[in-house]
Amino acid sequence: MASSSSSDDDHHHHHQLPNGSTSTTPPDIQFEFSHHDPTIARINNGSFGSCPSSVISAQQEWRLKWLQQPDDFYFNTLKPSILKTRLVIRDLINADHVDEISIVDNATTAAAIVLQHVTWSFFSSHFQEGDCAIILHYAYGAIKKSLQAYVGRAGGHVIEVKLPFPVNSDEEIVEEFKRGLELGRANGRKIRLALIDHITSMPSVVIPVKELVKMCRDANVDQIFVDGAHAIGCVDIDVKDIGADYYTSNLHKWFFCPPSVAFLYCRKSDILNELHHPVVSHEYGNGLAIESSWIGTRDYSAQLVVPQVMEFVNRFDGGIDGIKRRNHEKVVEMALMLSKAWGTHLGAPPEMCSSMAMVGLPACLGISSDSDGLKLRAHLRTCFKIEVPIYYRAPVKGEDNPVTGYARISHQVYNTVEDYFKLRDAVNKLVNNGFTCALLSN
Ligand SMILES: Cc1ncc(COP(=O)(O)O)c(C=O)c1O
Repeated sequence: MASSSSSDDDHHHHHQLPNGSTSTTPPDIQFEFSHHDPTIARINNGSFGSCPSSVISAQQEWRLKWLQQPDDFYFNTLKPSILKTRLVIRDLINADHVDEISIVDNATTAAAIVLQHVTWSFFSSHFQEGDCAIILHYAYGAIKKSLQAYVGRAGGHVIEVKLPFPVNSDEEIVEEFKRGLELGRANGRKIRLALIDHITSMPSVVIPVKELVKMCRDANVDQIFVDGAHAIGCVDIDVKDIGADYYTSNLHKWFFCPPSVAFLYCRKSDILNELHHPVVSHEYGNGLAIESSWIGTRDYSAQLVVPQVMEFVNRFDGGIDGIKRRNHEKVVEMALMLSKAWGTHLGAPPEMCSSMAMVGLPACLGISSDSDGLKLRAHLRTCFKIEVPIYYRAPVKGEDNPVTGYARISHQVYNTVEDYFKLRDAVNKLVNNGFTCALLSN
């Protein structure tokens, strides 16, 4: 139903460039993102993603179909169309059953669904006061608050696992996590839930989830929830191989969907039948996937464009896997270019980067608080037209001239090397001008 210039013929084919060489990128890529503000170097795909115009058009067609005859749409079209999305996701993440896949608004909503179930487990005395949940210190703020709201308030105890940053290897994470599990199990305490990021947001690092899940199983953790908010379209996801009970990922970050849409996977089990959407509707009791497909009158169009997203990504060499691989290679190349230009280092080795990488900023910028990070980000936006998040890392005692600020750079198909040169030159200019964050007013 969506208009798309793609045909089966050009799937996976290289495209001829005027100079005779070939490209892995379709020639109309600039058109697909022509709604982006051309004056901004947009190197923050991670926060809010991006949506190509062919997918925006498909979404608009869905909206019109809905508005043309809402009754027919709600009763006859909506559910089977969401099912198509669920089937695509099932295959992409190697789930067994489509019943295991629900479509929800975002990762925050997925977390609410899982954690609400945890709350009920406390109320129904399955879980006892003082039982604990474990989460990474670098987990996303909204998800940490969700733990506080759903687990803390129900009498659960929350343990945060500190992670080193900069980080050098998976082993460093595994070691800290082992300590967290030991602490969780101290004095015979039970760990009811482990909430593990697949890719942390800030600082951004790929977490060895499969290994951590295995450690949780060995430590008899009841339930394991992987927050892969950034993951689909960014790193490989094989839910059976990872082995967690729940897995969520946003489709609007690295999978080209318009906001807002995510999937929640829950392994087939007794628990799946006990999960409920926090917004109760007519479909209450009919299974999470069906409950989630009608949560009252609202715009469902973002959930319906996944088939058109597949058409879009299949115009690239290697489809979504090719996109993901090239984004990773490119972001690492750009991160190394920047760290060399600034005389700094990466926050994590290349194999622990996804399509995002952390690049140390020159120490002389004087980034000395979270608020400095935010102010510098705003300064880069307004004075240099660069969109990039900045992470503040507190110095460790005894460090000499420590790097306290890191830029989190992203690479997506629309990015060009000029975007990163713009960031390199802006930072060099600040350094040459003797700029420090202390000069920025609040
Ligand atoms: C690790 C992680 N979890 C959860 C979220 C929340 O995603 P959303 O705002 O789409 O619910 C994010 C967003 O950046 C994230 O990075």
